Amino acid sequence: MFSDEYITSKKILFVSSEVFPFVKSGGLADVSCALPKALKKLGHDVRVVLPRYWSIDKYQYNLKPVIAPMGVQMGNCLVWCAVFESKIDDIPVYFIEHEQFFGRSGIYDDGKKAYYDNAERYGFLCKAALQLCRDINFKPDIAHSNDWQTALLAPYLKTWHAYDSFFRNTASVFSIHNIAYQGIFHPNSLRFLGIGNEHFTESKFENFGYINFMKGALFFADAISTVSPSYAREILAEPGGNGLGPYLKRRHEDLHGILNGVDYDCWNPETDTIIPAKYSLDDMSGKAECKKALQREFWLRESPNVPIFGIVARFTPQKGLQLLAPIIEKLVTEMLAQFVFLGSGEKNLEDFFGGLPAKHPGTIGAWIGYNNYKAHLIESGADFFLMPSLYEPCGLNQIYSMKYGTLPIVRKTGGLNDTVWSYNEQTGEGTGFCFDAIDPYALYYTIGWAVSTYYDRPEHMRNMKKLAMSANFSWQTSAEQYSRLYEKAINRRNSWW
Ligand code: ADP
Ligand code: GLC
Repeated sequence: MFSDEYITSKKILFVSSEVFPFVKSGGLADVSCALPKALKKLGHDVRVVLPRYWSIDKYQYNLKPVIAPMGVQMGNCLVWCAVFESKIDDIPVYFIEHEQFFGRSGIYDDGKKAYYDNAERYGFLCKAALQLCRDINFKPDIAHSNDWQTALLAPYLKTWHAYDSFFRNTASVFSIHNIAYQGIFHPNSLRFLGIGNEHFTESKFENFGYINFMKGALFFADAISTVSPSYAREILAEPGGNGLGPYLKRRHEDLHGILNGVDYDCWNPETDTIIPAKYSLDDMSGKAECKKALQREFWLRESPNVPIFGIVARFTPQKGLQLLAPIIEKLVTEMLAQFVFLGSGEKNLEDFFGGLPAKHPGTIGAWIGYNNYKAHLIESGADFFLMPSLYEPCGLNQIYSMKYGTLPIVRKTGGLNDTVWSYNEQTGEGTGFCFDAIDPYALYYTIGWAVSTYYDRPEHMRNMKKLAMSANFSWQTSAEQYSRLYEKAINRRNSWW
């Protein structure tokens, strides 16, 4: 994908709305912790910036004040905030504290509705990140932003800071983790955001009369990435592009698909301190203990020889739970298998899946909410992991589950397509089970295929677990690709104007 030019160490400003372990709603948080760590290992100087949400405990994470107050120019007013610092390993992580914007219980919404001022909240985060660079005299070579929440970073660099000597050598990279969420807001926010009318045009921010943050980033960023090669192809056309396909096509040359990795410090059955028993390819006995603990935790019948299918997901249409809903009861009545569900999101899905254990006690377990312990327990204790996603930019759970010897069952889309090697019944090889059609019965037969493999071809199961557990999705490879992308962004920046 990239030429093999020599990569030098860079100063990288990495801005994200979620960073594990401080705040997490999905995979973006995992990436925003693991990628900076991997970049640091390659020799880059990385600084991470995120909001100091109300839920981030200053004492638990030993947050130290760095600047108070810091004035951030928004439109024609100065907005004052404080900045705190903590560390991930030895990477500085800066928290922007502003009571009115971030001192509330949710991240993006109040549990029912998106916050009415998300445009102002996240526009402010981007401006504050740039102001922080000045105040601590950190001149980044690269400003790396992620998804709509931090999409304004690149436009701010190209417009407000276009002639600013401090950011003269800063190039921008924008990563798309999910193009379905673009950050679309009423134009009333333009003034506070400091986006001039000359940029509120169809090729930049304007989208059917509204401001589209992601669209603006696609115009202004020096380089664009997304989280898997397949997704990079899918979003160039509709419906994958969610309306932004034509704008991505214009930047085709600057768009790169770089697969997410696994942070093996967190997700590795040999070292995982969260699970009840550790295990490895050489000694799998711990996995049986994890399975037993999983059955207890979810009130399932304690049967070591019945396959368990697990799901850990945000309950949104993306995750394909609507393919499972019509067949789940047929599955548990026709096949000897157990199911566990962990997740939260849309009320109708929560009600449906949350209500199943009462109808099928001992066979289906469910827990509605976010719980890191249960997520690790499912990864380690289940035999199969379900991801029937309608689309999946990358997906992390399928690659985590492979490391735990829990075979993923996935629809062939986006990153699922790039990471799971479908079972070949002739050779007994593969790392999971794949299907194509967006159809409950395609999923039904694939689960049936997995159940029959579990009972009838145990030697194939053993072989697949071995292949899955030995697959390497380390962040190092991806971080090297990002490093090359940074070089490319810097070259492109110099030829932009
Ligand atoms: P997405 O970012 O689209 O939600 P990913 O597969 O990339 O999907 O990442 C999801 C991450 O969020 C994984 O680390 C997964 O374990 C975690 N996760 C999702 N839902 C829950 C939950 N209810 N409880 C704990 N962890 C969860
Ligand atoms: C998004 C995507 C998911 C991806 C994650 C991290 O939330 O839905 O597929 O793994 O971002 O990049």
